[in-house]
Amino acid sequence: MFSIFLTLFVPFGVFGNPVSLEQRSHSVVGQVGSPVVIDTNGVYIRVSSTSNGGLIAGYTAHENNQSILRLANSSDRGASWHFVGEVYRADSSAHDVDNALPLQLPSGRIVYAYRNHDRSGDLYTYYRITLSYSDDGGASFLYLSTVEQQAATPGIPNGLWEPFLRLAADGSLQCYYSAENNAADQDGYMKRSTDGGVTWSNWIKVSGGDRTSRDGMIGVTNIDNSGNLIAVFENTESGPFSIDYVLSHDDGNSWGERARLYTAHNGANAGAPQVVNVGGTLVTSFMTNEDVAGTGGNGIDGAQMKVVTSTDGGSTWSGTTVTGDARSHWPGLFTLDQNHFLALYTKDGLGAVSQDYQIVN
Ligand SMILES: *[C@@H]1O[C@H](CO)[C@@H](O)[C@H](O)[C@H]1NC(C)=O
Ligand SMILES: *[C@@H]1O[C@H](CO)[C@@H](O)[C@H](O)[C@H]1NC(C)=O
Repeated sequence: MFSIFLTLFVPFGVFGNPVSLEQRSHSVVGQVGSPVVIDTNGVYIRVSSTSNGGLIAGYTAHENNQSILRLANSSDRGASWHFVGEVYRADSSAHDVDNALPLQLPSGRIVYAYRNHDRSGDLYTYYRITLSYSDDGGASFLYLSTVEQQAATPGIPNGLWEPFLRLAADGSLQCYYSAENNAADQDGYMKRSTDGGVTWSNWIKVSGGDRTSRDGMIGVTNIDNSGNLIAVFENTESGPFSIDYVLSHDDGNSWGERARLYTAHNGANAGAPQVVNVGGTLVTSFMTNEDVAGTGGNGIDGAQMKVVTSTDGGSTWSGTTVTGDARSHWPGLFTLDQNHFLALYTKDGLGAVSQDYQIVN
């Protein structure tokens, strides 16, 4: 009902993340394009839009014992990508940097969140969620702030992982992340910044605290334009990794109503989720080894990327579709328009790719 107004007068996905909504009774996902290479050496890709109609992609490359955070951009909706700049690089034996999340602020500044840990060999010594910024379109980056940090506790994992940035309708910047209590338990958190990411509030809890589960890899999207949001995350509450969600009715300031979104069949794992709103249809992605074995250590890394859809605000999910064939890694999603989204994943033999899919009513 409001789609024409929003399409004409609100830059899609920019300030306050407005979404265009259509009434659909069900949604089937269909392939449109082939994988398009963003970078032959990139992993954990996250894409957001810029005010000039372009896209920016953040990801990590591991080269010559260094971990390198990069930014690429696209002016043709992901049909081609171009390297723009480097955010940060560090020696992999002493540092662990990864989990990029780039976002343009209304001012035009690009902020870029990532995990930024110190380690000595395999032993972590210090954990951080760091924010860098660029005022030249992503060509160069400088340090902006540390969203959260803590020294490692010897013998008990207490890491900070997977920052997810979004702009709230009131203009504040929200940073979601996951924090380990121990090897078996991890919770989801959110901090808010009202000065463009320079300073951060105390955290609120998004999930966890009420059960032993590795809640992680949070992704968030608008269900509508009235402050109703959904956050998806992986968890281990019933053994294997599965996907849960929680809801917010106040634009992310409080969360609850935890429920199951996807359980892999055959006792397999489904993890590393993200979620987007494509014209009123919610699309959740994950990687799973329920049909093919993974190539990575945890069983799901290097298996398949799949998506499921919901046309009732997240209550029910269906239409499981493979959007990244076997040997795909660490998926993400980006909404292109009312009907199209990009699947983002790393594909063995190709590297970091985007691939166009559409919602077929
Ligand atoms: C992409 O980055 C280049 C600089 O490398 C810039 O000239 C171009 O305008 C950017 N494209 C978009 C769509 O922002
Ligand atoms: C990377 O580190 C390994 C182990 O320290 C070393 O053997 C190798 O030469 C290094 N490679 C490069 C390109 O520096």
